[in-house]
Amino acid sequence: MASYSLFLLMALLALVTSGAVASDPALSRTSVLLTNTHQVHTSYELSFRVNGFPCKDINDVKVDDFFLAANLDKPMDTTKSKVRSNVTLINVMKLAGLNTLGISMARIDYAPLGQNPPHTHPLATEILTVLEGSLYVGFVTSNPDNKFFSKLLNKGDVFVFPQGLIHFQFNPSHDKPAVAIAALSSQNPGAITIANAVFGSNPPIADDLLAKAFQVDKKAVDWLQAQFWEDNHN
Ligand SMILES: *[C@@H]1O[C@H](CO)[C@@H](O)[C@H](O)[C@H]1NC(C)=O
Repeated sequence: MASYSLFLLMALLALVTSGAVASDPALSRTSVLLTNTHQVHTSYELSFRVNGFPCKDINDVKVDDFFLAANLDKPMDTTKSKVRSNVTLINVMKLAGLNTLGISMARIDYAPLGQNPPHTHPLATEILTVLEGSLYVGFVTSNPDNKFFSKLLNKGDVFVFPQGLIHFQFNPSHDKPAVAIAALSSQNPGAITIANAVFGSNPPIADDLLAKAFQVDKKAVDWLQAQFWEDNHN
């Protein structure tokens, strides 16, 4: 009798924990470096519902759950962005079959002198290849070293941005566009663009606080906040 109820308990435990095992490892994992971001990065809240996306019965799964006519071979419009780039991310919101698979991808278009500004994917590593043009890329390691690694990439080169670190890409050409394809180790990597998050938050962070934090005049902070308020909320 006792062993029978033990068996039942273990079966129940297996059932309860299987959801966690099947979820995106990047969403379930706790990161030593990034504990502070857990409360504010909405992706993590999704993990309670197996990343927030339905797990279909196998009989309801169709091939198109794993397919997207994404037109990733087509150039994207870079003229509307102030930084002259356009990120087309194929994540689980666009391709349902990515759920629980821990991967996504992006096409990134850069106008001449365009950039994908300093940003982080708290729980995703990113590997990138250059399809057209060249890119100056870099990332900075965590405190206290803040070591900067950078490299000029040519067509066909591959670079990896380690999980959680602040990184960027810049097209140094004055006349040629650049194109990159990236893969990210999360079905929903999210992104925190540093300038937009710090200077464009809603509501704004107090300007005297940021003036002290960035060791600049309050007027410089007010100017930045006006720029990024417009970018983020208009
Ligand atoms: C990116 O390009 C697409 C297609 O050209 C366009 O619809 C979209 O508005 C662009 N996004 C930005 C942020 O410029």
